[in-house]
Amino acid sequence: MKTIVTGGAGFIGSHLVDKLISWGYEVIVVDNLSNGKKENLNKKAKFVEGDIKDAEFCKDNIKDVDVVFHLAAEVDVRKGPEEPNLDFKENIVGTHNILEAMRINNVKKVVFTSSSVVYGEATVMPTPEDYGPLVPISLYAASKLSDEAMICAYCNTFDMRAWIYRFANVIGSRESHGILFDFIKKLRADPENLEILGDGSQTKSYIHVGDCTDAILVGLDKGNDKVNIYNIGSDDYVDVKKIAELVSKQMNLAPNFNFTGGDKGWVGDVRHMQLDAKKLKDIGWSPQFNSESAIVETLKSLLEEN
Ligand SMILES: NC(=O)c1ccc[n+]([C@@H]2O[C@H](COP(=O)([O-])OP(=O)(O)OC[C@H]3O[C@@H](n4cnc5c(N)ncnc54)[C@H](O)[C@@H]3O)[C@@H](O)[C@H]2O)c1
Repeated sequence: MKTIVTGGAGFIGSHLVDKLISWGYEVIVVDNLSNGKKENLNKKAKFVEGDIKDAEFCKDNIKDVDVVFHLAAEVDVRKGPEEPNLDFKENIVGTHNILEAMRINNVKKVVFTSSSVVYGEATVMPTPEDYGPLVPISLYAASKLSDEAMICAYCNTFDMRAWIYRFANVIGSRESHGILFDFIKKLRADPENLEILGDGSQTKSYIHVGDCTDAILVGLDKGNDKVNIYNIGSDDYVDVKKIAELVSKQMNLAPNFNFTGGDKGWVGDVRHMQLDAKKLKDIGWSPQFNSESAIVETLKSLLEEN
């Protein structure tokens, strides 16, 4: 199978590329290296440097493959309030350019990495795929939900097929953002104090990147609908204070925890998140890690690699 992975120099994308190549697939990585790194690139993949906001670039390069795995995106929820155009330009325009290039070049299958954030402040936990109404509370979330809508419309209008994955927090080696990365960075700068955004009681579910990429490929293999939507997450959750304790323990530190207060970490943060992943499990996916063991495994990798 011949594939393109947009965002394949980034955290999740590079792990997905490694897995596709280990399965014998041909992979072309498309990435503008805004957040991705050359050292993440698999040597057996062809690399095309470019920006998906450029429609001409997409038309020229998103072609001659069986599947496009579209991961390239602006991923920082916190930038939205300061740059309200950012998620629109990067994520909505970028995804539209990918879909248009696929339509023009007759590429029929797209895999899209969406997020738990599309559920907004869900009142059902764990949240299943058919939960609604979907009320995003950040510009990033709005961009992901818009992308999902556009993908569904393209599939139904132009005879394409899609696999849309709504991720819990994905963690693992090579990550360059997120709570574990932030806590390690802060503790390296000041081993005696750790600033914790919010009151520490926010709870989220974490999924190891290896389990996440397995899930993507199980869904792609077994999902037979025109549009297949799957949650990817573990069966449990962990609160922020517990994560601070795990990071401190792994770094052999005993810092003071300084909470910034309030029940959320930032504008657009969701206080509780846990996804119901039964739909994927029913077709054969089984994760190796729960939230806490994924956190410990990731901390070991991050402390070794940075
Ligand atoms: N990490 C998570 O917990 C998580 C959770 C939910 C959804 N996702 C989604 O998974 C995908 C991958 O996220 P990640 O955590 O690996 O982030 P990442 O920042 O490591 O990867 C994104 C990649 O896209 C590239 N990119 C960004 N804008 C681009 C553009 N305009 N043109 C070309 N390349 C561009 C970046 O250089 C980077 O390599 C994203 O779509 C993200 O929204 C991630």
